[in-house]
Amino acid sequence: MKVTVVGAGAVGATCADNIARKELATELVLLDIKEGVAEGKSIDMMQTAALLGFDTKVKGVTNDYVATENSDVVVITSGLPRKPGMTREELIGVNAGIVKSVTENILKYSPNTILIVVSNPMDTMNYLTLKTSGLPKNRVLGMGGALDSARFRYYLSQELKCSPADLNAVVIGGHGDTTMIPLIKHATWNSTPVTNFLTEEQQAKIVADTMVGGATLTKLIGTSAWYAPGAGTAAMVESILRDEKKLISCGVYLEGEYGQNDISLVVPVVLGKNGWEKIVDFKLSTEEQAAFNKSADAVRNMNDVLKTL
Ligand code: 2OP
Repeated sequence: MKVTVVGAGAVGATCADNIARKELATELVLLDIKEGVAEGKSIDMMQTAALLGFDTKVKGVTNDYVATENSDVVVITSGLPRKPGMTREELIGVNAGIVKSVTENILKYSPNTILIVVSNPMDTMNYLTLKTSGLPKNRVLGMGGALDSARFRYYLSQELKCSPADLNAVVIGGHGDTTMIPLIKHATWNSTPVTNFLTEEQQAKIVADTMVGGATLTKLIGTSAWYAPGAGTAAMVESILRDEKKLISCGVYLEGEYGQNDISLVVPVVLGKNGWEKIVDFKLSTEEQAAFNKSADAVRNMNDVLKTL
Protein backbone atom coordinates (compact mmCIF):
# COMPACT_ATOMS: atom_id res chain seq x y z
CA MET A 1 0.00 0.00 0.00
CA LYS A 2 1.17 3.57 -0.69
CA VAL A 3 0.41 6.70 1.33
CA THR A 4 1.32 10.29 0.55
CA VAL A 5 1.43 12.97 3.23
CA VAL A 6 1.39 16.47 1.78
CA GLY A 7 2.96 18.96 4.17
CA ALA A 8 6.08 18.00 6.14
CA GLY A 9 5.35 20.36 9.01
CA ALA A 10 4.93 19.11 12.56
CA VAL A 11 1.55 17.46 11.99
CA GLY A 12 2.42 15.91 8.62
CA ALA A 13 5.78 14.61 9.79
CA THR A 14 4.29 13.18 12.99
CA CYS A 15 1.54 11.48 10.97
CA ALA A 16 4.17 10.04 8.61
CA ASP A 17 6.25 8.85 11.58
CA ASN A 18 3.20 7.08 13.06
CA ILE A 19 2.40 5.42 9.72
CA ALA A 20 6.03 4.31 9.24
CA ARG A 21 6.43 2.85 12.73
CA LYS A 22 3.17 0.88 12.45
CA GLU A 23 4.01 -0.24 8.88
CA LEU A 24 0.55 0.79 7.70
CA ALA A 25 1.96 1.16 4.18
CA THR A 26 4.95 -0.30 2.35
CA GLU A 27 5.67 3.07 0.70
CA LEU A 28 5.21 6.52 2.18
CA VAL A 29 5.89 9.75 0.27
CA LEU A 30 6.28 12.96 2.29
CA LEU A 31 5.92 16.07 0.12
CA ASP A 32 6.56 19.69 1.01
CA ILE A 33 6.86 22.88 -1.00
CA LYS A 34 9.96 24.05 0.92
CA GLU A 35 13.19 22.69 -0.60
CA GLY A 36 14.78 19.91 1.44
CA VAL A 37 12.38 19.76 4.37
CA ALA A 38 10.52 16.60 3.35
CA GLU A 39 13.76 14.97 2.17
CA GLY A 40 15.50 15.72 5.45
CA LYS A 41 12.66 14.60 7.70
CA SER A 42 12.19 11.40 5.66
CA ILE A 43 15.87 10.45 5.96
CA ASP A 44 15.72 11.22 9.67
CA MET A 45 12.67 8.90 9.96
CA MET A 46 14.37 6.17 7.90
CA GLN A 47 17.37 6.36 10.23
CA THR A 48 15.09 5.20 13.06
CA ALA A 49 14.17 2.03 11.09
CA ALA A 50 17.17 0.10 12.40
CA LEU A 51 16.27 1.12 15.95
CA LEU A 52 12.48 0.71 15.78
CA GLY A 53 12.37 -2.26 13.43
CA PHE A 54 10.08 -1.13 10.63
CA ASP A 55 10.49 -1.68 6.87
CA THR A 56 8.28 1.15 5.58
CA LYS A 57 10.09 3.01 2.80
CA VAL A 58 9.74 6.73 3.48
CA LYS A 59 10.72 9.10 0.66
CA GLY A 60 10.75 12.89 0.87
CA VAL A 61 10.21 15.09 -2.20
CA THR A 62 9.99 18.81 -2.86
CA ASN A 63 6.81 19.63 -4.75
CA ASP A 64 7.20 16.54 -6.96
CA TYR A 65 3.69 15.18 -7.44
CA VAL A 66 4.83 12.52 -9.92
CA ALA A 67 6.36 10.74 -6.92
CA THR A 68 2.91 10.56 -5.30
CA GLU A 69 1.50 8.50 -8.21
CA ASN A 70 -1.10 5.82 -7.35
CA SER A 71 -1.32 6.63 -3.65
CA ASP A 72 -4.04 4.61 -1.92
CA VAL A 73 -4.48 7.35 0.69
CA VAL A 74 -3.34 10.98 0.64
CA VAL A 75 -3.22 13.11 3.79
CA ILE A 76 -3.39 16.87 3.23
CA THR A 77 -1.84 18.90 6.07
CA SER A 78 -0.66 21.82 3.90
CA GLY A 79 -1.21 25.39 4.96
CA LEU A 80 -0.54 27.57 7.95
CA PRO A 81 -1.16 26.44 11.51
CA ARG A 82 -2.82 28.91 13.86
CA LYS A 83 -1.01 31.18 16.31
CA PRO A 84 -2.06 31.79 19.93
CA GLY A 85 -5.37 33.63 20.10
CA MET A 86 -6.35 32.76 16.52
CA THR A 87 -9.34 30.66 15.55
CA ARG A 88 -8.98 27.89 12.96
CA GLU A 89 -11.47 29.79 10.81
CA GLU A 90 -9.09 32.76 10.47
CA LEU A 91 -6.78 30.58 8.35
CA ILE A 92 -9.29 30.23 5.50
CA GLY A 93 -7.92 33.09 3.36
CA VAL A 94 -4.47 31.53 3.06
CA ASN A 95 -5.23 27.84 3.34
CA ALA A 96 -8.11 27.55 0.86
CA GLY A 97 -5.91 28.32 -2.14
CA ILE A 98 -3.19 25.96 -0.93
CA VAL A 99 -5.59 23.07 -0.28
CA LYS A 100 -7.32 23.54 -3.66
CA SER A 101 -4.01 23.50 -5.53
CA VAL A 102 -2.74 20.46 -3.60
CA THR A 103 -5.97 18.56 -4.32
CA GLU A 104 -5.75 19.31 -8.05
CA ASN A 105 -2.12 18.16 -8.19
CA ILE A 106 -2.77 14.97 -6.22
CA LEU A 107 -5.74 13.96 -8.38
CA LYS A 108 -3.61 14.23 -11.54
CA TYR A 109 -1.56 11.22 -10.36
CA SER A 110 -3.90 9.38 -7.96
CA PRO A 111 -7.41 9.66 -9.47
CA ASN A 112 -8.80 6.88 -7.27
CA THR A 113 -7.24 7.86 -3.97
CA ILE A 114 -8.88 8.46 -0.59
CA LEU A 115 -8.22 11.95 0.76
CA ILE A 116 -7.89 12.85 4.43
CA VAL A 117 -7.99 16.60 5.02
CA VAL A 118 -6.27 17.99 8.13
CA SER A 119 -5.71 21.61 7.05
CA ASN A 120 -7.82 24.19 8.86
CA PRO A 121 -10.53 25.33 8.99
CA MET A 122 -11.02 21.60 8.49
CA ASP A 123 -14.79 21.46 7.92
CA THR A 124 -14.62 24.01 5.11
CA MET A 125 -11.35 22.67 3.71
CA ASN A 126 -12.91 19.21 3.51
CA TYR A 127 -15.94 20.64 1.71
CA LEU A 128 -13.61 22.48 -0.71
CA THR A 129 -11.55 19.33 -1.28
CA LEU A 130 -14.64 17.24 -2.07
CA LYS A 131 -15.90 19.81 -4.58
CA THR A 132 -12.44 20.27 -6.13
CA SER A 133 -11.56 16.59 -6.37
CA GLY A 134 -14.79 15.31 -7.89
CA LEU A 135 -14.17 12.08 -5.95
CA PRO A 136 -17.14 10.08 -4.63
CA LYS A 137 -18.11 11.55 -1.23
CA ASN A 138 -17.03 8.41 0.69
CA ARG A 139 -13.42 8.94 -0.45
CA VAL A 140 -13.02 12.43 1.10
CA LEU A 141 -12.67 12.66 4.87
CA GLY A 142 -11.88 15.44 7.31
CA MET A 143 -9.68 14.72 10.32
CA GLY A 144 -11.00 16.45 13.40
CA GLY A 145 -13.31 14.06 15.20
CA ALA A 146 -10.57 11.49 15.81
CA LEU A 147 -8.45 14.20 17.43
CA ASP A 148 -11.23 15.89 19.40
CA SER A 149 -12.56 12.53 20.63
CA ALA A 150 -9.06 11.62 21.84
CA ARG A 151 -8.86 14.92 23.71
CA PHE A 152 -12.34 14.26 25.12
CA ARG A 153 -11.13 10.87 26.41
CA TYR A 154 -8.04 12.55 27.89
CA TYR A 155 -10.07 15.08 29.88
CA LEU A 156 -12.51 12.38 31.02
CA SER A 157 -9.62 10.13 32.12
CA GLN A 158 -8.06 12.97 34.09
CA GLU A 159 -11.31 13.57 35.99
CA LEU A 160 -12.20 9.91 36.46
CA LYS A 161 -8.60 8.96 37.19
CA CYS A 162 -8.92 6.02 34.81
CA SER A 163 -7.27 4.67 31.68
CA PRO A 164 -8.20 6.56 28.50
CA ALA A 165 -8.31 3.12 26.82
CA ASP A 166 -11.35 2.23 28.95
CA LEU A 167 -13.31 5.23 27.72
CA ASN A 168 -15.58 5.52 24.70
CA ALA A 169 -16.30 9.13 23.90
CA VAL A 170 -17.20 10.80 20.61
CA VAL A 171 -17.13 14.41 19.42
CA ILE A 172 -19.33 15.47 16.47
CA GLY A 173 -20.37 18.75 14.82
CA GLY A 174 -17.49 20.93 13.62
CA HIS A 175 -13.77 21.01 14.29
CA GLY A 176 -13.98 24.47 15.80
CA ASP A 177 -13.57 25.91 19.31
CA THR A 178 -17.30 26.73 19.35
CA THR A 179 -18.71 24.23 16.84
CA MET A 180 -17.60 20.88 18.21
CA ILE A 181 -20.02 18.85 20.35
CA PRO A 182 -18.52 16.38 22.86
CA LEU A 183 -21.37 13.89 23.40
CA ILE A 184 -20.99 13.50 27.16
CA LYS A 185 -24.37 11.76 27.61
CA HIS A 186 -23.20 9.03 25.19
CA ALA A 187 -19.75 8.58 26.75
CA THR A 188 -19.05 5.34 28.66
CA TRP A 189 -16.41 3.98 31.01
CA ASN A 190 -16.24 0.30 30.02
CA SER A 191 -19.93 0.16 29.06
CA THR A 192 -21.26 2.24 31.98
CA PRO A 193 -22.26 5.91 31.43
CA VAL A 194 -19.60 8.35 32.63
CA THR A 195 -22.44 10.56 33.86
CA ASN A 196 -22.90 8.05 36.71
CA PHE A 197 -19.61 9.31 38.15
CA LEU A 198 -19.55 13.01 37.26
CA THR A 199 -21.51 15.96 38.59
CA GLU A 200 -23.15 18.33 36.10
CA GLU A 201 -20.36 20.82 36.82
CA GLN A 202 -17.65 18.23 36.13
CA GLN A 203 -19.38 17.23 32.89
CA ALA A 204 -19.64 20.87 31.78
CA LYS A 205 -15.94 21.48 32.52
CA ILE A 206 -14.83 18.40 30.58
CA VAL A 207 -16.94 19.46 27.58
CA ALA A 208 -15.61 23.03 27.74
CA ASP A 209 -11.98 21.89 28.09
CA THR A 210 -12.37 19.51 25.13
CA MET A 211 -13.81 22.22 22.91
CA VAL A 212 -10.77 24.46 23.39
CA GLY A 213 -8.29 21.60 23.65
CA GLY A 214 -6.47 22.76 20.54
CA ALA A 215 -6.40 26.44 21.51
CA THR A 216 -5.13 25.53 24.98
CA LEU A 217 -2.09 23.82 23.45
CA THR A 218 -1.52 26.58 20.88
CA LYS A 219 -1.36 29.07 23.76
CA LEU A 220 1.20 26.90 25.59
CA ILE A 221 3.30 25.89 22.57
CA GLY A 222 2.94 29.00 20.38
CA THR A 223 1.62 27.01 17.41
CA SER A 224 -0.85 24.20 16.67
CA ALA A 225 -0.36 20.85 18.37
CA TRP A 226 1.04 17.91 16.38
CA TYR A 227 1.33 14.68 18.40
CA ALA A 228 -2.41 14.02 18.78
CA PRO A 229 -3.36 15.43 15.33
CA GLY A 230 -0.67 13.22 13.76
CA ALA A 231 -1.81 10.15 15.70
CA GLY A 232 -5.49 10.83 15.00
CA THR A 233 -4.79 11.01 11.28
CA ALA A 234 -2.74 7.81 11.38
CA ALA A 235 -5.62 6.05 13.17
CA MET A 236 -7.90 6.92 10.23
CA VAL A 237 -5.28 5.72 7.72
CA GLU A 238 -4.97 2.45 9.67
CA SER A 239 -8.72 1.72 9.68
CA ILE A 240 -8.88 2.40 5.93
CA LEU A 241 -5.77 0.46 4.83
CA ARG A 242 -6.46 -2.49 7.14
CA ASP A 243 -10.19 -2.36 6.43
CA GLU A 244 -10.81 -2.39 10.18
CA LYS A 245 -14.36 -0.92 10.02
CA LYS A 246 -13.61 1.23 13.09
CA LEU A 247 -16.22 3.75 14.20
CA ILE A 248 -14.41 7.10 14.18
CA SER A 249 -16.08 10.50 13.94
CA CYS A 250 -14.88 12.19 10.74
CA GLY A 251 -15.72 15.18 8.61
CA VAL A 252 -17.90 13.88 5.80
CA TYR A 253 -20.27 15.32 3.18
CA LEU A 254 -23.87 15.07 4.37
CA GLU A 255 -26.91 14.61 2.14
CA GLY A 256 -29.70 14.60 4.70
CA GLU A 257 -27.99 12.63 7.47
CA TYR A 258 -28.28 14.32 10.88
CA GLY A 259 -30.72 16.69 9.18
CA GLN A 260 -28.11 18.50 7.09
CA ASN A 261 -27.42 18.83 3.36
CA ASP A 262 -24.54 20.04 1.16
CA ILE A 263 -22.10 20.49 4.05
CA SER A 264 -19.15 18.65 5.59
CA LEU A 265 -19.54 18.05 9.31
CA VAL A 266 -18.06 15.61 11.83
CA VAL A 267 -20.29 12.58 12.41
CA PRO A 268 -19.69 8.97 13.53
CA VAL A 269 -18.74 6.82 10.52
CA VAL A 270 -17.42 3.32 9.83
CA LEU A 271 -13.97 3.54 8.20
CA GLY A 272 -12.83 0.77 5.85
CA LYS A 273 -11.10 0.11 2.54
CA ASN A 274 -13.63 2.26 0.65
CA GLY A 275 -13.20 5.26 2.92
CA TRP A 276 -16.21 6.06 5.02
CA GLU A 277 -18.60 3.20 4.43
CA LYS A 278 -21.52 4.08 6.70
CA ILE A 279 -22.75 7.08 8.68
CA VAL A 280 -23.92 5.87 12.10
CA ASP A 281 -27.03 7.53 13.55
CA PHE A 282 -26.46 8.18 17.27
CA LYS A 283 -30.10 9.25 17.62
CA LEU A 284 -29.33 12.66 19.10
CA SER A 285 -31.50 14.19 21.79
CA THR A 286 -33.45 17.35 20.95
CA GLU A 287 -30.77 19.38 22.74
CA GLU A 288 -27.91 17.62 20.92
CA GLN A 289 -29.62 18.04 17.54
CA ALA A 290 -30.13 21.74 18.23
CA ALA A 291 -26.43 22.11 19.01
CA PHE A 292 -25.59 20.19 15.82
CA ASN A 293 -27.80 22.49 13.74
CA LYS A 294 -26.14 25.55 15.33
CA SER A 295 -22.70 24.17 14.44
CA ALA A 296 -23.91 23.51 10.91
CA ASP A 297 -25.02 27.14 10.56
CA ALA A 298 -21.57 28.35 11.65
CA VAL A 299 -19.77 25.99 9.25
CA ARG A 300 -22.11 26.96 6.40
CA ASN A 301 -21.19 30.60 6.97
CA MET A 302 -17.51 29.65 6.61
CA ASN A 303 -18.27 27.70 3.44
CA ASP A 304 -19.89 30.86 2.04
CA VAL A 305 -16.57 32.69 2.55
CA LEU A 306 -15.08 30.40 -0.12
CA LYS A 307 -17.21 32.19 -2.72
CA THR A 308 -15.55 35.50 -1.85
CA LEU A 309 -11.97 34.22 -2.23
C1 2OP B 1 -5.82 20.98 16.49
O1 2OP B 1 -6.93 21.12 16.99
C2 2OP B 1 -4.45 21.21 14.44
O2 2OP B 1 -6.81 21.63 14.41
C3 2OP B 1 -5.77 20.89 14.98
O3 2OP B 1 -4.80 20.85 17.14
